[in-house]
Amino acid sequence: MTYRTHTCSELNASNVGQNIKLAGWTARKRDLGGFIFIDLRDKYGKTQVVFDQSPELAQTARELHSEDVVQIEGTVRHRPDGMVNRNMKTGEIEVTAAVINILSRANHLPLEVEDEEEPGSELRLRYRYLDLRRPRMRKNLLLRHKALQSVRNFHTELGFIEVETPFLIRSTPEGARDYIVPSRERPGSCYSLPQSPQLYKQALMIGGIDKYFQLARCFRDEDLRRDRQPEFTQIDVEMSFVEEEDVFTHTEAMMQRLVKDTIGTDIQIPFPRIEYDDAISKYGSDAPDMRYELLIKRCDDFFSGSGFKAFENVINEGGGVFGICAKGKGGLSRKERERLEEPARTQGLAGLLSVPFTDKGLTGIIGKLFKEDKQTELCKHLSAEKGDLLLFAAGKVKLTLEALGRLRRKLAQLWDLEDKNELAFCWVVNPPLFEPIEDSDGITAVHHPFTAPNEEDIDKLESDPLNVYSRAYDLVLNGIEMSTGSIRIHDPELQQKVFKAIGIDNIEAKKRFGFLLEALSYGAPPHAGIALGFDRLVMLLAGETTIRNIIAFPKTNVASSLMDGAPAEIEPEQLRELGLKLIRNETAEDAEKAEK
Ligand code: AMO
Repeated sequence: MTYRTHTCSELNASNVGQNIKLAGWTARKRDLGGFIFIDLRDKYGKTQVVFDQSPELAQTARELHSEDVVQIEGTVRHRPDGMVNRNMKTGEIEVTAAVINILSRANHLPLEVEDEEEPGSELRLRYRYLDLRRPRMRKNLLLRHKALQSVRNFHTELGFIEVETPFLIRSTPEGARDYIVPSRERPGSCYSLPQSPQLYKQALMIGGIDKYFQLARCFRDEDLRRDRQPEFTQIDVEMSFVEEEDVFTHTEAMMQRLVKDTIGTDIQIPFPRIEYDDAISKYGSDAPDMRYELLIKRCDDFFSGSGFKAFENVINEGGGVFGICAKGKGGLSRKERERLEEPARTQGLAGLLSVPFTDKGLTGIIGKLFKEDKQTELCKHLSAEKGDLLLFAAGKVKLTLEALGRLRRKLAQLWDLEDKNELAFCWVVNPPLFEPIEDSDGITAVHHPFTAPNEEDIDKLESDPLNVYSRAYDLVLNGIEMSTGSIRIHDPELQQKVFKAIGIDNIEAKKRFGFLLEALSYGAPPHAGIALGFDRLVMLLAGETTIRNIIAFPKTNVASSLMDGAPAEIEPEQLRELGLKLIRNETAEDAEKAEK
């Protein structure tokens, strides 16, 4: 049978008089005694259906429940004068039903799909299939689809080919824990699910594929938050015989096309670039939000020997004093200024000195201790004008910068400085290759160990590794890291040196990455690439604040799926086949003891 001749968003005055069929969900019902109106809804929209041709038909419609699935046959007619709804695509017409078929009954729904108001997040995840009926979710999935198509078209037109790399692999380090899959054929051995296709895309370059892309699913067992899910999608790209500029140009063109194809906005390219060290010292973050100023400036020179003991002590102990100019905030009351101390403390600062720049110059302790010309110089240093508020904090350099970076974001939220419609991209370039591992003497790769060091730093790999800079780059959008990428190491000897610097000796390197080292020795082209967090990008384009809202079936913050109950226990038989024995929490200690 033909369920429908039209969708619920299609009919208009030009269809008046036609016999048509529609199918969909019963969205809203109004009982006017003699006859019944229902709004019939499908993915595309709504149509008003009137049951006024017979009392039996009206009775059947009266007994419909919200969200019952029905098919109707009827005739399109103009709505009576005064009943036309200009806000509805089908608002000029209504369908008078001659036949109704109930295709499926709906129990009372646990969440409202017609309300503007958002149901609780647990309910939404438990009944995701109902949540998906809400227009907002449909809109987001449509946007996501358009973005996927845009990326595919863009790359295909440029001669890239999409290659699917495997899910069952040997671990690829990207800084998170692996999800592992036990092997039945080799009990005791496990596959890892890919944290990224990094090594495979490099193998594709060695295989001569030249230009690769993939809408790649990645799996990471890490702490989750609003822009992190355990499974997510990357726009993964790798190219041979390219340098940084080629990757930048390619990515900028892709972004320009993608933003135009999805939300119709023209974005300016090229994106600004900022050196990693500058990002840290000016924004207190390696993912600076460029939509507002609140720049951080070091002010040690003004405070050493100033008589302001608290700050002088910090400088004498090797720390630093930093200032931020908050434009136009000099008029905040003392109470309002005191209220800024709370977020400053929660972001890790010992305190926050706030100094209004008034008609009489700087007030408070600085007003007292600093002579007029020094005040003028300090204000110049911070680009401050009358009416601005100066904020100062002191402490250990790295920690204070990071805390000020977080405070900067809090202040921008508090003062509503983030333009929600702006897309502020920037490249952060030239980061260090390594960073210290917390609470240990060791160092680790900032990006991943396949990133090329800067040529001029190669001889410091052994002697001074923390001062080796790398050919990596991050793309940041509105203060969120969107992509990272790098020029890769294509020389096996250099690759081994980098492994060594992070404590992976030759034996270990051979065990874990032998295939890569071997592959690099059979003629590896110079190559580079990038991976863009697709969910994060669509989140920002959709104006959402969590990637959960643009993933059809996301996980909770503890990585479970409320809809199907994953993860779930497996049958003893499956464990036996895999050669696995579970150690329950309460017996884990005993087992450990027994092993000793
Ligand atoms: P990286 O680990 O930085 O780089 O990942 C690239 C981008 O993927 C996104 N991302 C995530 N999105 C959602 N949930 C997560 N858990 C999550 N983790 C990362 C971020 C991030 O910038 N192989 C390298 C790239 C390369 O060098 O080509 C890699 O995976 O937006």
